[in-house]
Amino acid sequence: MIDSHCHINDVSFKDNPAEYVKLAKCAGIAEFLVVGYDEKSSRIAVEIAKNFPECFAAVGIHPSDVKRMEKGDLESIEKMAQDDRVLAIGEIGLDYYWDKEESVQEQQKEFFIKQIDLANKLNKPISIHCRDAYEDCYQILKAHPVKKGGVMHCYGGSPEMAQLFIKLGFVLGFGGTLTFKNARKPREVLESISSNDYILETDAPYLAPDPYRGKQNHSKYLYLVRDKIAEIKGVSLEEVDRQSTENFNRIFR
Ligand code: NI
Repeated sequence: MIDSHCHINDVSFKDNPAEYVKLAKCAGIAEFLVVGYDEKSSRIAVEIAKNFPECFAAVGIHPSDVKRMEKGDLESIEKMAQDDRVLAIGEIGLDYYWDKEESVQEQQKEFFIKQIDLANKLNKPISIHCRDAYEDCYQILKAHPVKKGGVMHCYGGSPEMAQLFIKLGFVLGFGGTLTFKNARKPREVLESISSNDYILETDAPYLAPDPYRGKQNHSKYLYLVRDKIAEIKGVSLEEVDRQSTENFNRIFR
């Protein structure tokens, strides 16, 4: 399995990435995409990617971190992104759940577009974080197509919108939320898409799957997401492993 979205660069794990990778590998994880959310975390993601052959990095400024950006951060991200170990620009996007102020939302849009332009300049895909902003996110992607596509990480939108994102070259990331008891929406989305359209993720240390909900997440729990997808799609565990890996490689390599 490939964990397409984890934060080994988070303060919970960054001091002992070797231990993290070892534990996850024992649980069947072959590769990791370590995702940045600001300048510093992106830098650590690249460092981890250089130190561990199983790890790759995504670099970018998360919408909720846009208001804390410092001068030169975007230039720094651009420099980091040139590295071959950086597979994507991310996580980038829009988050209106935490930021309700219009001026901040405008700023989020501005930096989302700037980072899409960067991805296109470097011919890399993007990893999107979107919360309570699917319509605006779609309009931006339609007006600023991403050549290499990307992933809607932890997709929480409707099945109808899912088809629109898929048409624009995106796959959907499924993680812990799919395993929650009240997970009607992600389940409906998964049922409605083809097997070419999903990849696996944990978002560790966040969003631990059931029965670890509320605890610190870890890539070693990714099998719980994989098992749930197999159950919903009515296919074998091996088939989900194979298909999600193929989907990941199509977008990110
Ligand atoms: Ni994340």
